Amino acid sequence: MAEKLHIPLVDLQVQQAEIADDIREEIDDVLWSASFIGGPAVGRFEKAYAQFSGTGHCIGVGNGTDALELALRASGVRAGGEVILPANSFVATAEAVARMGAVPVLVDVDPHHLLIDPAKVAEAMGPKTQAIVPVHLFGQLAPMPEIMALAEGTGIVVIEDAAQSQGAQRGGQVSGSFGTAAATSFYPGKNLGAAGDAGAVTTNDADIAAMVRVLGAHGSSAKYVHDVVGMNSRLDTIQAVVLDAKLKRLPRWNAMRREAAAQYGDLLAGVSEVKLPTDRPDYEDVWHLYVVQLDDRDSMVDALNAAGIGAGIHYPTPIHLTKAFSFLGKGTGDFPVTEAAAARIMSLPIFPHILVKQQERVVKTLREALRAR
Ligand SMILES: Cc1ncc(COP(=O)(O)O)c(C=O)c1O
Repeated sequence: MAEKLHIPLVDLQVQQAEIADDIREEIDDVLWSASFIGGPAVGRFEKAYAQFSGTGHCIGVGNGTDALELALRASGVRAGGEVILPANSFVATAEAVARMGAVPVLVDVDPHHLLIDPAKVAEAMGPKTQAIVPVHLFGQLAPMPEIMALAEGTGIVVIEDAAQSQGAQRGGQVSGSFGTAAATSFYPGKNLGAAGDAGAVTTNDADIAAMVRVLGAHGSSAKYVHDVVGMNSRLDTIQAVVLDAKLKRLPRWNAMRREAAAQYGDLLAGVSEVKLPTDRPDYEDVWHLYVVQLDDRDSMVDALNAAGIGAGIHYPTPIHLTKAFSFLGKGTGDFPVTEAAAARIMSLPIFPHILVKQQERVVKTLREALRAR
């Protein structure tokens, strides 16, 4: 294949090329059957995704943020309760907590992998703590054994934010199966992405699963019987068709991401200005993003972008420094590891089908930009 001049951060068209023939007829069937919500493909996908995650139940919902809110509520978290989460995450993690009236309690992350720091969680735990939400950011599992040990016997629930980590594993255990429940997002660019917004809750607890379903269907367990104030958050049948086709390929796509991450590791090995993401031998991460750290980050992103390379920043503003979460009363200096990282992180293009040639061009361009400083 000829080298692409433009290298996107993520290339979804190559995924579509793989699944196009599989989904065409099924999507047509959905359209003609007019079974747009809760059609047979939804149940099929939920079963397949539960199996993939090693959980007893999967409930498809409208998006990952809803999945978080539904998982928290169904697990017994109530308005006014405190929910501990990492300051280094996408804003949606805190948003879901705030939206249901609970109080986001941010904690700093570990400087090595930039994931939630169990020592900081321990410091933040108190009588009002109702949940801990570890985030498996960048496709890297949070330190789950340590988090589960902290929650053990306390009555505090652990809700994994598994939006960026479909298929990540530790000791054979899969993302989404560690906590009381887990929320994931099938936003198109995720490792498992839909053709629009979608998400899911996974859990081994049948009561929580049943409550997620009720809450996501207007608080209703039977037509026009409304037992609790719920919301409308369901998985569209068309999305289930797309997700099912992609799920079949996900183990291979994740393996391709791992190869691409290893390739970056080799290509960047001699570039002393660049700190590579931490590769942990006992974790099988799935590299949703490949996040390096370096000085002069903004000019390096600009240089790559100018060369047609879709470098990004995930995320430029820590949650506590956003205007939306200023009500938490935190400021600069409160979460120093997260803040220092936010100034230095840069995401390089990574997706299953990225070519070695493309990665070589990314690294060559980066080396040149570093030399030209
Ligand atoms: C870590 C994290 N949590 C939650 C979400 C929210 O998912 P969604 O955009 O599907 O609502 C996302 C993705 O957008 C995410 O990356």
